[in-house]
Amino acid sequence: MDIDEILNQAQTAVDAAVDLRSLDEIRVTYLGKKGELTSLLKGLGRLDPEQRPKVGALINAAKVKFQTTLDARKTLLEQQQLSAAINADAVDITLPGRSPTLGGLHPVTQALHRIEEIFLGAGYEVVAGPEIENDYYNFEALNIPSHHPARAMHDTFYFSDGTLLRTHTSPSQVRTMEQQQPPIRVICPGRVYRRDSDLTHSPMFHQVEGLVIDKGISFADLKGTVIDFLQRFFEKDLQVRFRPSYFPFTEPSAEVDVQCVHCLGDGCRVCSQTGWLEVMGCGLVHPNVLNMSGIDSEVYSGFAFGFGGDRLAMMLYEVDDLRLFFENDVRFLQQFN
Ligand code: PHE
Repeated sequence: MDIDEILNQAQTAVDAAVDLRSLDEIRVTYLGKKGELTSLLKGLGRLDPEQRPKVGALINAAKVKFQTTLDARKTLLEQQQLSAAINADAVDITLPGRSPTLGGLHPVTQALHRIEEIFLGAGYEVVAGPEIENDYYNFEALNIPSHHPARAMHDTFYFSDGTLLRTHTSPSQVRTMEQQQPPIRVICPGRVYRRDSDLTHSPMFHQVEGLVIDKGISFADLKGTVIDFLQRFFEKDLQVRFRPSYFPFTEPSAEVDVQCVHCLGDGCRVCSQTGWLEVMGCGLVHPNVLNMSGIDSEVYSGFAFGFGGDRLAMMLYEVDDLRLFFENDVRFLQQFN
């Protein structure tokens, strides 16, 4: 076959190549070790010596031409490949941006902060106590000796070494009184644990304890504090009532009800048609408790109260199932951001 014909064929093949791989195959077909142009050069030996330089020059010229075509095609295909890749992950800058999703504070945390703000504003200090307690702080020092029936109501989680998960925040009353002399004004928000789990009980929940000790503290101070707090917390002029109750560590003791935040007293499903919601336990600190913690009950008196932080959060945000707070479904949590 003559040189021009081979060159023609080679160039036609190059022009038809659609990608870099087939282009390289074409290169090998003509310029590889056994390639067609290569074999032409190898065949020079069989020619007359005086023809060799002329034919050799023709073959080389053909090779150069072919290489030029090849390079041009290669550049073109590379450019095409690059722009295809760029187009493939093109960004449509006219689309609206996606803003990063921000987390927020859990509704229970928000409610606890709200509670802390109110008491801080009234001159209280916020203290924390350990969640793993011992029998003394959780029961004994609160006037609940080992034979006391009140222990049965606490459904305590015990550890094998005799320690336990605190069943209420009242141990922090004792810890505070041991460390501080009156006047005392503290609240202690924190997690508490009980072996209890259903629609309205979770084995871990939040309580807020309040303790005030000074000279001449009376039940009237307790009532005023509780009513004022509840009205500030709910930002509504709700009715509050005190029912006589019993706690070993307070005397007298009371249970506090607030007018139902949903129906404002008319009676609804949330308040079981009673118009009232039970919110906390409270009372005047029992003299035994004061004395055991080193505070002279002849000189000082005080009040204490304790309520569920989760329960107040449920009432504030009108959430009707406690479990929603602990399932942490983002669709639920997002509503509080
Ligand atoms: N500790 C009590 C409870 O968990 C609540 C309470 C606190 C009652 C302080 C009176 C005074 O039920």
